[in-house]
Amino acid sequence: MPRHAGAADVLTELRTATAGEHEQVETALGLMDPLLGRERLVAVLTRLHAFWTAAEAGLDAWARRCPTDAETVAWLQRRRAHLFAADLRALHAAPDTSSVQPELPAVEDTDQALGRLYVLEGATLGGTFISRHLATLPTLGPGVRLGAFSPYGAETGAMWHAYRRVTRERVAAGGDADRLVGAARDTFAALAAWCVPRKNPVLLAPRRRTPSPHPSQARGGARTGPSLGTGPAA
Ligand code: HEM
Repeated sequence: MPRHAGAADVLTELRTATAGEHEQVETALGLMDPLLGRERLVAVLTRLHAFWTAAEAGLDAWARRCPTDAETVAWLQRRRAHLFAADLRALHAAPDTSSVQPELPAVEDTDQALGRLYVLEGATLGGTFISRHLATLPTLGPGVRLGAFSPYGAETGAMWHAYRRVTRERVAAGGDADRLVGAARDTFAALAAWCVPRKNPVLLAPRRRTPSPHPSQARGGARTGPSLGTGPAA
């Protein structure tokens, strides 16, 4: 019998277990601020670039050890630290090469890899809102298009559904759901800590709260219904 027969689906567990950190990160980044300026956008992209670089290094090491599992989830297509770097260059800023890096645990196995991927891949859902919002701002200047927030464009729903299918199949085949959810929590907690640095909490403190209706209300609403696909258009 599958481990989760009669218990919560692993995707539901992932969402519930990380909802607090998602809200923290969303608020700290303040990307939906109608007054978002270039300087702040560059600060956010710099932070996210460093985080994705560290998070992907752990996944790259896992992919070398478990190439079949990495291929099953199309890991190579999902890498996007380089897109954050490209976005920074498009805004005439350089990626931060300082030695300060976010602290992330090693990815020991495929359960933990899928937990980390939940955070990185889920970000493409909110990313569709962010991309559309950024396109309305004068911040970017004419002709500047950013790629990291919505890397899959019209394929966002398909990529997310594929991730979810692989994750459910892993658990149904005996994967350790607790380990998977634990890795997602650790990744999200590391991101939250990285986005709200204790030593300089104003670095990414939003100027003001995002006005209502907030996109996370759509996320909350999606708890009772399908996620992307019936959600916002990419
Ligand atoms: C890099 C930072 C972020 C990460 C890691 C992240 C992560 C996630 C994850 C894991 C999910 C999937 C939830 C699920 O269905 O299980 C999600 C969904 C979502 N996020 Fe974020 N998120 C980030 C930033 C944001 C921001 C700034 C916003 C504000 C617009 C946002 C808005 C949303 C929305 C609206 C959804 C639901 C989309 C849908 O169900 O169609 N996210 N995010």
